[in-house]
Amino acid sequence: MTQDELKQATGQAAADYISTHLDSDSIIGVGTGSTANCFIDALGRISHLFDGAVASSEASAERLKQHGIPVYDLNSVGQLEFYIDGADEINDRLEMIKGGGAALTREKIVAACSRKFICIADASKLVGMLGTFPLPVEVIPMARSHVARELVKLGGDPVYREGVVTDNGGHILDVYNLKIQSPADLETRINQITGVITNGLFALRPADVLLLGTSEGVKTITAG
Ligand code: 5RP
Repeated sequence: MTQDELKQATGQAAADYISTHLDSDSIIGVGTGSTANCFIDALGRISHLFDGAVASSEASAERLKQHGIPVYDLNSVGQLEFYIDGADEINDRLEMIKGGGAALTREKIVAACSRKFICIADASKLVGMLGTFPLPVEVIPMARSHVARELVKLGGDPVYREGVVTDNGGHILDVYNLKIQSPADLETRINQITGVITNGLFALRPADVLLLGTSEGVKTITAG
């Protein structure tokens, strides 16, 4: 199977996974990226089963609306039952690096408001140790150089993602060559740098379930 077919299979598996838990009042948290897009397309086929969604980006909100799915402001809803999103890397503790699509801050916020985080990923995303994928850090634009210098002190090599402005007006630094032995500690440490909005480590709030697309089918994995 191609990577695109694996993404489609995981998106469909996530829709199947949540479908028996939905009712007409359900509002679902929806992530960002090509795998999340496959999930949104699968959601479109069951849109009669739930009320609507909260999106982690303007792009996902637009795609949801194209499927006729109402999109709510997070402030107008209570706790969400599910948040479904992709990842750039995920380990067997279901800690992740996210933010390849620059939506990390809103993704972290919607995930924080959700009871169950379901990560959908193709097999290439499962790693032994996080950090081969450069860690995205969203920053207040005027703090970019300051934050970059502090990230160098932590052993990383930050690179400004030129031309990208996030949905929050932030800039992104992609940090190469970090040795991420303790993802939760590093997540906390980077977030304490003045000017950081958030970083793409999702370790303090990891996923609860991973639906992993493999050539043998979609595997359901819980934290090991
Ligand atoms: C966007 C993200 C995505 O979940 C991550 O980049 C994975 O994307 P894709 O499913 O396209 O591989 O964090 O900010």
